[in-house]
Amino acid sequence: MLVAPPALDVPRAKIPVFAPYVGVDTLKHLTDALDVGWLGMGATTKDFEDRIAAYLELDGRYVVATNTGTSALHIALLAAGVGPGDEVITPSFNYVADHQAIRATGAAAVMCDIRDEDLGLDVDVVRSLITPRTKAIIPLHFSGIPCRIDELYALANERGLRVIEDACHAFGSTVRGAKIGSFGDIACFSFDPVKIITSIDGGCVVVNDRDALERLHRLRLLGVDKDTTLRYKNKRAWDYDVVSEGYRYHLTNIMASVGVSQIKRVAEFIRSRQAICARYSAAFDGIPGLRVLRRAYDDVSPFIYSLRVLDGAREALIEHLAALDVEVGIHFVPVHRHTYFATARRSPMPVTDRVVDEVLTLPLHSLMPEAAVERVIDGVRSFYGR
Ligand SMILES: Cc1ncc(COP(=O)(O)O)c(C=O)c1O
Repeated sequence: MLVAPPALDVPRAKIPVFAPYVGVDTLKHLTDALDVGWLGMGATTKDFEDRIAAYLELDGRYVVATNTGTSALHIALLAAGVGPGDEVITPSFNYVADHQAIRATGAAAVMCDIRDEDLGLDVDVVRSLITPRTKAIIPLHFSGIPCRIDELYALANERGLRVIEDACHAFGSTVRGAKIGSFGDIACFSFDPVKIITSIDGGCVVVNDRDALERLHRLRLLGVDKDTTLRYKNKRAWDYDVVSEGYRYHLTNIMASVGVSQIKRVAEFIRSRQAICARYSAAFDGIPGLRVLRRAYDDVSPFIYSLRVLDGAREALIEHLAALDVEVGIHFVPVHRHTYFATARRSPMPVTDRVVDEVLTLPLHSLMPEAAVERVIDGVRSFYGR
């Protein structure tokens, strides 16, 4: 049985914002994994980790697969030594996963404004937020577009801070030719249902030393020592010790089998998305009332295509596109506006407060049918009388 993306070349089918690409190859990996009969964390989890390491071209760095990107962020923070009394700086223009992961360690999330140019952390504002309690910074590579990570690492080194890159949108994005995750301190990725590659739900942490790797192995599985090596052979250790706090954050063989099937095709998925984003930007650039985030996408592994709609026209454009059966999304509601985080320490938010009323996420799928791409382009252009 073929499970393929919705038949979007049907002229009037609704075009969803997200459409995971799941083909027969994924089904084969899944049924093979079920046939092995070892459903929990095991050899396929290790295979997925090895393939992530190979794809990211890691050298002296290590991958720990987790059950979500959020759990990856949580144990990455713990491995970096973040805990009660500490502060961690991250953008408000972000998914709330980061802020919840920070709070789960007992630390406080401190929210920072972004740069108008690339919607990444504003390093000067980060500097103004640093206090003796600051332990780490979590920059976000929004939509897959690398933020100004060099400047951030320079600041972190100067002030002795850890950096945990939220690369959940950026699996395969590069900085000067090096894949995000292959350099620097710690990076976290997500393989949730709508990401460029999915393991249904899943994520991983990339670290640069073996002690951190071992700490992450324990944090991922209830603080249990010794168990990982045996589980990677589809076996269990019956005599074990518990040596730290820990969680049930591991990725199972079954989920990993989906991830393995997807990572085999990641280059093809990314190429198709880059081409669509470049076409979108070429079609919208220069229309008064619209602002594209990027024109060239060679260094971007685009998770979403986000466009800035100026002059308060976003709601009207959304209605116009809805009438054409083109679905859109909004990334993000800024975290400082959520009830639970409303009193958290933060910088002034002039850029964030403006940008969140402008951003609009257009449909972007791996191997998106040409007719669907054209309908999205025509839909947006027709709103502006083009
Ligand atoms: C920026 C960002 N960080 C973290 C996450 C959390 O990843 P997950 O959904 O795998 O827990 C997401 C998920 O969409 C995200 O967009």
